[in-house]
Amino acid sequence: MSTFINGKIGEFHQHVDTDGHILNVSDGGILYADGAYHWYGQALGDLPFKPHGEGGQVTHKGVNMYRSQDLSTWTYEGVVLKCEAQQNSPLRAPMRFERPKILYNKKTGKYVLWCHYVGYPGDHSFSDVGGEALVAMSDHVNGEYRLVSISRPIDRAGVVRDCTVYQDASGSAYFIYDRHIGGGFNKVLAPFERCLHIVKLSDDYLSFTDEYARIDAADAREAPCIVKHDGYYYMITSGLTGWNYNPAKYFRSRDLMHGWEDMGDPCVGDEEKTTFRTQGTFIFTTREGRDILMSERHNTENFLRCSYIWFPIEYRKDHTLSLSYHEQFSL
Ligand code: GAL
Repeated sequence: MSTFINGKIGEFHQHVDTDGHILNVSDGGILYADGAYHWYGQALGDLPFKPHGEGGQVTHKGVNMYRSQDLSTWTYEGVVLKCEAQQNSPLRAPMRFERPKILYNKKTGKYVLWCHYVGYPGDHSFSDVGGEALVAMSDHVNGEYRLVSISRPIDRAGVVRDCTVYQDASGSAYFIYDRHIGGGFNKVLAPFERCLHIVKLSDDYLSFTDEYARIDAADAREAPCIVKHDGYYYMITSGLTGWNYNPAKYFRSRDLMHGWEDMGDPCVGDEEKTTFRTQGTFIFTTREGRDILMSERHNTENFLRCSYIWFPIEYRKDHTLSLSYHEQFSL
């Protein structure tokens, strides 16, 4: 049986691959495909936070991927979606492929990657305009993913910030994102609004349909992570405090498109009210059927040394859930 190590709440535990290198998969996800788990995420730099594309929070490489049978031994598969060097390329580094998420489309046999795209030099924290949805596609789970398009759902007014995707049992897929409209960081140009929205994707998952909903209860929330259990969809989110920790809040509904209820903070024993010093990334299900929330302890002194913290989700009979901290747990 393998063990997953989170380490102590006050430290940055590192996971390493089979070559001894630090796993570099910021804010990504895990997809089970071709008989193995594939853990992917944005490759960050070993530098502190700095503006103008000079810090560790942007990528010069792209999206990394690792492969494992047991969720504990990880072999590097390489960069599956690459930054480019050409000045006129939309993928010119430094930039950001934030919160990448991969789905397999059974109908087309293709792997589809969505993310929050921030073009060169990757500084979305300093402008109102740097947020789009990027979609890329590959014939194989481990790449290479080729750019399909960069766009915004609903209308051009809604800047795309944190995002995720969700595939339901019928094979339909959805893009969920923090839609930012109005004056943005310049509060003088109000109205300012950020609220999570859900948009249905086309059958091939490569574009948006015009079916969408504003998740009214999830106003001023980001980092959405979705899972279904026993007839309910659950969405765990964070507040809007950038790299700083804040208390998580989750929502539940019987229908993805409406009826989301605010269920409060799912954490148990989180004395500091910081989601145990993490922000949610993605929920995946193990081969054995266990739902795990992948979370991240952002390290703004050195983004290569962010910590990946996992929470086995505990469901209660009354359709509520909880997250508690384990320094390590067996998978
Ligand atoms: C967080 C967000 C991250 C990243 C960061 C940068 O709030 O969840 O994905 O965008 O801000 O400021």
